[in-house]
Amino acid sequence: MLEKVESLMLAQVASLESARSVELFHKVPKGKRLRAKLILKIAGASADALKLASIVELIHAASLLHDDVIDDANTRRGQSSINAEFGDKTAIMLGDILYSKGFSELTLLPKEVAYSVSNAVALLSVGELLDVELSATFNDNKESYFDMIYKKTASLIEASAKSAALLVGKNSDIYALYGKNLGLAFQIIDDVLDITQSSEILGKPSLNDFKEGKTTLPYLYMYEKLSLHDQQILLSLFQKTLNENEEAWIKEKMNETNAINLSINDARRLGFEALEAIKDEEDVGLASIIKEMIERNF
Ligand code: FPP
Ligand code: MG
Repeated sequence: MLEKVESLMLAQVASLESARSVELFHKVPKGKRLRAKLILKIAGASADALKLASIVELIHAASLLHDDVIDDANTRRGQSSINAEFGDKTAIMLGDILYSKGFSELTLLPKEVAYSVSNAVALLSVGELLDVELSATFNDNKESYFDMIYKKTASLIEASAKSAALLVGKNSDIYALYGKNLGLAFQIIDDVLDITQSSEILGKPSLNDFKEGKTTLPYLYMYEKLSLHDQQILLSLFQKTLNENEEAWIKEKMNETNAINLSINDARRLGFEALEAIKDEEDVGLASIIKEMIERNF
């Protein structure tokens, strides 16, 4: 079914009759299509569900095109990012094209679905702003981290699950809660993998978040548990390009403070809460999505 989503995404871009847009669209690295999978599991593969899945994936792809410009990222999923290969202007414009085409298609879906997804995109944008602003100085506040990842990542996953439920008349509140918790768990695992995996496996530089000023959940736990002396060392490494010894120090302290395990436990707890929300619903395979997202390596 995901192939149908891929071809719908392409058809939507092609309908703009811009050969250059289609050419560039083919260069955008394809992701896990988590949001599309989620929508099709909840709503089945009706024409509207496939359309919603393709719209949400177009919007998500657009947000990553912009995010790579904002983060000055050279790679995405093991490939050159569009900004690295074609420049920031092209990446921003292609993002605008995918995003606005997604929006125009969204207006053809039921009003509540269109509202839920478009409102999530506004939250996504606020989340990105929070992420950038929180990265300017060392953030030691877990609440700000959770608020930011809810907006930046979980909001669109929440809206995907909610809209899919709305399309088929299921209880949208409980699917929204499932999606929100899945989204939070997903981002925590992303933040853990930045520390535990190699660049080759990730398809982007590893240990990059801290260099970018992002004090993600493992760093928050670690900071909380470090001695005053070690806290000062950690602060001295903030936003720095790390040498081998400094990388090794961070990994060792992550181990000593149990920060990685504590973060993974939070993700598992959120995964459990996601499943609790839909426990009385018909089993359409949403547990396997949680497992796939939490027990992943990249
Ligand atoms: C990736 O975060 C970024 C997001 C999930 C959201 C980005 C949102 C925007 C740029 C605003 C919305 C814009 C449009 C056009 C809809 P990350 O940098 O932590 O993850 P990464 O390591 O995968 O880059
Ligand atoms: Mg980024």
